[in-house]
Amino acid sequence: ETRTITVIRGDGIGPSIVDAATAVLDAAGCGFHYEYVEGGLAALEHTGELLPATTLEAIERNRVVLKGPLTTPIGQGFSSINVSLRQHFQLYANVRPVLSFPGTKARYEDIDIITVRENTEGMYSGQGQVVSDDDMVAEALSVISRGGAERILRFAFELARREGRRKVTVVHKANILKSTSGLFLRVAREVAAQYPEIEMIEMIVDNACMQLVMRPEQFDVIVTTNLFGDILSDLCAGLVGGLGMAPGANIGADCAIFEAVHGSAPDIADKNIANPTSVILASCQLLDYLEEGAIAGRIRAALRTVIAAGKHTTTDLGGTASTTEFTDAVIEALSAA
Ligand code: NAI
Ligand code: MG
Repeated sequence: ETRTITVIRGDGIGPSIVDAATAVLDAAGCGFHYEYVEGGLAALEHTGELLPATTLEAIERNRVVLKGPLTTPIGQGFSSINVSLRQHFQLYANVRPVLSFPGTKARYEDIDIITVRENTEGMYSGQGQVVSDDDMVAEALSVISRGGAERILRFAFELARREGRRKVTVVHKANILKSTSGLFLRVAREVAAQYPEIEMIEMIVDNACMQLVMRPEQFDVIVTTNLFGDILSDLCAGLVGGLGMAPGANIGADCAIFEAVHGSAPDIADKNIANPTSVILASCQLLDYLEEGAIAGRIRAALRTVIAAGKHTTTDLGGTASTTEFTDAVIEALSAA
């Protein structure tokens, strides 16, 4: 039976790197059928809406999505499409792995960190965003619920258990944000107690930033609230060669969206130079999710071969290859393996 994946090619560099990922999936013999729908600027142009109902219906129907970055226009009346999607489908877990690939010229060589970011509440709850009429005071509401904290913490510890990982670092700021981060940390201690084989470390977010830069090898799984997770995961991407190397999965109870951590990169759009590794690795997460881990492993190995050889890497990794040249090299490495 053919599995249908909803595909949103996205804005800016999105179409080029999403097409690279589907080409690699096809070359690996996944045999997926793709249902293409629009979101973001492309959708706004064609339908007048950033997130048309037909797109939501397609996601509802297929439940598994491969997505390019979407540009959220700056200005009144546009709330982030990504935040809307995550909240609409209750994709509460944002799983952002970073893994060292030899050949990237990154500063570190042995990084293997999974950041599990709470994806629906915290500072991004979207509630209580008010600016006073005289433009002198602005407010936003940060919301942490016990249920929201518990499900993300449980997700992180279950992931650690399933993948045989030894340590979960809970990143917080409970010393200052006593109500919100305080509740998150209390729930973390309760959940951690149910996973005695996994070491739980508590770390304040500012120290976590310093530790990640100084001694990143000490980290295994990180679990944290929405805003801290957003920022820390970009930092983690920087440890392994930049945003072009960083995928992310948005996972809910029965629906998941796989994408890059980065945005639409307007500065390099339409130049065929973006690094598609982020979305190719996101499609490996998609394969893992569909219990096709063997195929995901073959694709990761092909990426490893091409990046290590260094002859066909993109400019962000210090090479000179275009997006399509890199992708062709990955497809060739797949068939050679
Ligand atoms: P960005 O992540 O698009 O770009 C940051 C920097 O990284 C740029 O210099 C860019 O050229 C580089 N970069 C990003 N991906 C790359 C790749 N695959 N290969 C090589 N270089 C890469 O961040 P920016 O410019 O702040 O945001 C642009 C737009 O993207 C905004 O409209 C923002 O709202 C949207 N965005 C969308 C996201 C999503 O759809 N999940 C996530 C983050 C931002
Ligand atoms: Mg971000």
